[in-house]
Amino acid sequence: MTDAVETPRLRLRRWTSEDAVALAKILAVPDITRYIGEGHAFSKEDTFSWMMRHRRHWEEFGFGLWAAELKETGALAGWMGLATPAWLPEVMPATEVGWLVDKPHWGRGLATEGGRASLDHAFQTLRLEEVVSICYADNVASERVMQKIGLHHERDTAHPRNGARLRIYAMTSTEFEDAARIEAIRVTNGWTH
Ligand SMILES: CC(C)(COP(=O)(O)OP(=O)(O)OC[C@H]1O[C@@H](n2cnc3c(N)ncnc32)[C@H](O)[C@@H]1OP(=O)(O)O)[C@@H](O)C(=O)NCCC(=O)NCCS
Repeated sequence: MTDAVETPRLRLRRWTSEDAVALAKILAVPDITRYIGEGHAFSKEDTFSWMMRHRRHWEEFGFGLWAAELKETGALAGWMGLATPAWLPEVMPATEVGWLVDKPHWGRGLATEGGRASLDHAFQTLRLEEVVSICYADNVASERVMQKIGLHHERDTAHPRNGARLRIYAMTSTEFEDAARIEAIRVTNGWTH
């Protein structure tokens, strides 16, 4: 995966040690981590281990979750990108598209923007055949992002550790190409959504 990508409002880039303080501040907010990991606010140590784990992911796979920086201010706004959902063995082997946005920026379309850029990279740069996305069934905002960027609901399952209901969405490379063709026709003809 490319080390850095820009969207209209975001710079998606590799993590640096300078991000640790800002990320720890974001992940210390319980509303943000409710549907992440074990569902509790991250301690500074949790954030540190998350960063180490994701650094190893980048080294092993050559792609991963990017740090999402707001172009306007340079502030860290969360993460976007691709990860390997090894925590859910029934979907493996798989690559997951995911997002997390700092609470003051919720509802501005940032996850949708970063999610689309992540799909472009998954299918155009990495040439993956399929991407999945997984959320808790009551994480309505995340499910809505999956729908907005064109993933389809595949099935529900239970979380292997806590039994909670999970939604699995997916998109194939063919679906991605079809959506891109339809979008090109829309733009060429000046049709609005
Ligand atoms: C999920 C998350 C990344 C969404 O980020 P965001 O930048 O606010 O998302 P967007 O603005 O692109 O889109 C959110 C959509 O969900 C909708 N939404 C949000 N809360 C909702 C709710 N309670 N009920 C129904 N729809 C809701 C928004 O209206 C929007 O849809 P719309 O554009 O059709 O109106 C953000 O809420 C977050 O960081 N949550 C905590 C971390 C997390 O759960 N990550 C995902 C793990 S699977």
